[in-house]
Amino acid sequence: MSPKTIVITGASSGIGKALALHYAAQGAMLGLIGRNKERLDAVAAECRAGGAKDVKTGVIDVRTRAELMSWIADLDRDAPVDLLFANAGVTGGTTAEGAFEPNELSLALIETNVLGAFNSVHAILPAMIARGHGQIALIGSLAGFVPLADSPSYCASKSAIMAYGLALGDALHPRGIKVSVVCPGFVETPMSNSVASTKPFQISADDAARRIARSLERGQTIIAFPFPLAFAARLGQFLPGSLRRWLLPPFRIRTEASG
Ligand SMILES: NC(=O)c1ccc[n+]([C@@H]2O[C@H](COP(=O)([O-])OP(=O)(O)OC[C@H]3O[C@@H](n4cnc5c(N)ncnc54)[C@H](OP(=O)(O)O)[C@@H]3O)[C@@H](O)[C@H]2O)c1
Repeated sequence: MSPKTIVITGASSGIGKALALHYAAQGAMLGLIGRNKERLDAVAAECRAGGAKDVKTGVIDVRTRAELMSWIADLDRDAPVDLLFANAGVTGGTTAEGAFEPNELSLALIETNVLGAFNSVHAILPAMIARGHGQIALIGSLAGFVPLADSPSYCASKSAIMAYGLALGDALHPRGIKVSVVCPGFVETPMSNSVASTKPFQISADDAARRIARSLERGQTIIAFPFPLAFAARLGQFLPGSLRRWLLPPFRIRTEASG
């Protein structure tokens, strides 16, 4: 059954926007969260025009726990949430000038990608537990499998999401709640455009949204794609450091911090 009410954090751009449009076309009720009001309103308008039953927008930073919790709880009272996407994220790493990632960036990455996801999950968890029903999709990354020398904090944030999601899924399974960790490779979005690197097997955000929705319908726990890169990333985990460093040069990246 298609989910009826869906909350998406980071819906103003990229993968979150593509997910919003995908579910709008199925007539879903959408709760869209992001910080940029103009972009969020534009996505909401596209979703309404694209068939969404209703769209509510929350101009909220996922790091502001109290505001996020109260907005999601209000929405859930009107329309019980079936599916949450904890998608909001930022990236960064070795700078365009070649400097090692700054400490401020590491902290910002963990605050948004990890603590922001925890806040999003806890905002809906009590209601889903009470109903004995619900689905949570945490947007991780293939970078959560394989350490990348140019973005240690981003990799750490996505590894944290992987560990959290798998543990959460096991804990919530007996309570009727499914948890999936989505691990995309390169998806063409403003975030991806902020990174200068080779981007093998890059896919569009619309393609990513379709793959994610299809795999969530099947209740898949780890949704990693595209296959060749997912396979390589999972293999990369087990390589000895010397071999990993030898293979590294084509995968060096330079970033403008996104978000
Ligand atoms: N693109 C890729 O190749 C790729 C690959 C693997 C995983 N991912 C993951 O996919 C997710 C979406 O990334 P994307 O590529 O779609 O990037 P994007 O186009 O830059 O979108 C990021 C979204 O997150 C929102 N956001 C960032 N910080 C936020 C905050 N503190 N509070 C609320 N919203 C916030 C942004 O909206 P506002 O600026 O309006 O707040 C935006 O809507 C991220 O978790 C990313 O790590 C992306």
